[in-house]
Amino acid sequence: MLHSAVLNVMIKAAHRAGRSLKRDLGEVEHLQVSLKGPRNFVTAADRRAEEIVYQELAKARPTYGFLGEEGGSREGTDTSHRWIVDPLDGTTNFLHGIPHFAVSIALERSGAIVAGLVYNPANDDLFVAERGKGAFLNDQRIRVAGRKKLAEAIVACGLPHYGRGDLALARREIAVAQQHFAGLRRYGAATLDLAWVAAGRLDVYWERDLSPWDLAAGILLVREAGGFASDLDGGEAIFAKGQIVAGNDTLHGELIRLLKEAGKETAPS
Ligand code: IPD
Ligand code: CA
Ligand code: CA
Repeated sequence: MLHSAVLNVMIKAAHRAGRSLKRDLGEVEHLQVSLKGPRNFVTAADRRAEEIVYQELAKARPTYGFLGEEGGSREGTDTSHRWIVDPLDGTTNFLHGIPHFAVSIALERSGAIVAGLVYNPANDDLFVAERGKGAFLNDQRIRVAGRKKLAEAIVACGLPHYGRGDLALARREIAVAQQHFAGLRRYGAATLDLAWVAAGRLDVYWERDLSPWDLAAGILLVREAGGFASDLDGGEAIFAKGQIVAGNDTLHGELIRLLKEAGKETAPS
């Protein structure tokens, strides 16, 4: 399949970073048995992956800005273009040797996401989308799932990490909503959750406390696959609030309704 020049640049960067992460995953598997564990090694692997992505993108588009999770923001002379990058999404999975993690790259033009990529090096799943051109998994067109009933839906969510976020709220949401789903999953890589919604593997997904690099590429994938993505109130403030609900038209709306119901329940004392 012929990709646009900009997608080719993004794919090359993701493949190079992915090769590095895959090599490092092998080492992580060895380090599980050591007392110190692989944490420091993973931090270095994460930074290495970001630097590879940065170097590749900067080589091809030297004037663009760059926002990466690890290195923060680097200004470009072209202020209308910016890359938004998570070099390793699903760090906790990676740390435990679980092959569910991804490199995520998005291109923002004048405030709008115009290209997005999510790549899982462990199984070579490459999800790409460009605005107005549809979404693809390994060059095959993808669409969000057509299911209209939550009772038949596989739903994914995020949960607060140890010591962070509002665990009580997450529990209330699950207490209210889960009984309506066929199944609930927590996979641990937000960019892949969104890519899997785009590919129709997951019917609908929600999460709070996310950052732009967790969201940017995945939102475009979902929308280009015919799905809906919004904040938890159904609005456009996904980045500002760091929240997302994504799925097809019907299930997206249904889930927002249930989450609102859960929000009204009083916190247990
Ligand atoms: C995390 C993952 C996880 C989500 C977290 C994110 P990281 O990103 O996407 O699924 O629940 O909130 O921060 O730290 O692995 O890049
Ligand atoms: Ca992330
Ligand atoms: Ca990350």
